Amino acid sequence: MSSATTFRAAERIGTLGTETAFAVSADAAAWKAQGNEVYPFHLGDMNIRTPLNIIERAHEAMVDGKTGYTPAAGIPELREALAASLSTERGVSYSPEQVSVQPGGKPVIGKFLMAVMEPGDEVLYPNPGYPIYESQVDYLGGVGRPYTYYVEGNRFRIDRESVQSALSRATRVLIFNAQHNPTGADADADDIEWLAALANERDLWVLSDDPYHDIRYDGAASQTMVGLAGIAERCVIGYTFSKKYAMTGWRLGAAVGPREVVDVITKLNTNDESCTNHFVQLAGVEALTGDQSGAQEIVHTLGERRNAVVSGLCAIDGVVVPDTAATFYLFVDVTGVYRRMGGGDQQQFRIDTMQKTGVSFCSRTHFGRDLPGEDRAWIRFAYSGIDVEVANRGLAELKEYWES
Ligand SMILES: Cc1ncc(COP(=O)(O)O)c(C=O)c1O
Repeated sequence: MSSATTFRAAERIGTLGTETAFAVSADAAAWKAQGNEVYPFHLGDMNIRTPLNIIERAHEAMVDGKTGYTPAAGIPELREALAASLSTERGVSYSPEQVSVQPGGKPVIGKFLMAVMEPGDEVLYPNPGYPIYESQVDYLGGVGRPYTYYVEGNRFRIDRESVQSALSRATRVLIFNAQHNPTGADADADDIEWLAALANERDLWVLSDDPYHDIRYDGAASQTMVGLAGIAERCVIGYTFSKKYAMTGWRLGAAVGPREVVDVITKLNTNDESCTNHFVQLAGVEALTGDQSGAQEIVHTLGERRNAVVSGLCAIDGVVVPDTAATFYLFVDVTGVYRRMGGGDQQQFRIDTMQKTGVSFCSRTHFGRDLPGEDRAWIRFAYSGIDVEVANRGLAELKEYWES
């Protein structure tokens, strides 16, 4: 008989990964607690307040008693608003029945895989990429097959050769993150078409994980795979309010796609969280249908930060900053600095830098297992949680230390 003192986690937990970026947060918090200044470039959280109209709607809903359970798939008003908004945005006609409301964008990843993937099925996923893909594929008994990115000119692009070599007869699922964490890459239209053709030809399920769809700076609309021929019927969109409306902690998102898959995802909701908070869902309706000036202001603020952080990093000898049009991440090649400072363990390099300068960031290892042949030092700067003035101070410290 097991007891608390003899507890050993169930075997399946051995295959569950984590978001190791949270460990970087813990390091940064511990350093700050000792009285040191920390410049937080590590986590994709936001220090921007949710637009007031959304907050007021949630408050009003709570006062009005909208504090009970809702249907597992979400309230009809929100499913309708999401279907309408995504239909307009993505050029595909979605009905409310094709929407399952979720507590955030993250739950869509595991639930989608539970719905479509059998044990032993192979899954194409980006690496570097959001670490939860790898974690959930492993945990649910799939076989992860990473594809990667390369720098062309000064832009990240999907490495088609790596997709080709990851393919096999057992490939069943493609995970695609068009506006990509951590590289900040915005997928090219012809790469999206190429991937869509592959998904059709190989009869793959597709997860279009799109948290940064609306976080872009050049005024153009983001490209999307789901509008291409043959894709809507094999694709689930992972939607979230987290980034567009600065609602990371509210936990509101949705799975949107073929009805039979969405119904399974809703059944998983019933078994898992039951439903998403009622008042949060009503705030989501306001986010989608109310005044959009708050969302525009968020992108404007992020754009100013991007410009400041890019120019601060570019001023450091040995740092190469690829161009980005979307997300709030910069994936930066610091091989020059790292080698100048003696190389060694990359986590130690990260910690030493934080302790000498206060600048905290994630490294390559936080975005999936290292791939064979990688020989450069990449780190990720997130600028969603730091104001321009503070970022500039941190980058000045960084320049001084890394050039010393
Ligand atoms: C690529 C990617 N997918 C999903 C998520 C999860 O989003 P949410 O915070 O809404 O759960 C994130 C969050 O950072 C992300 O970067």
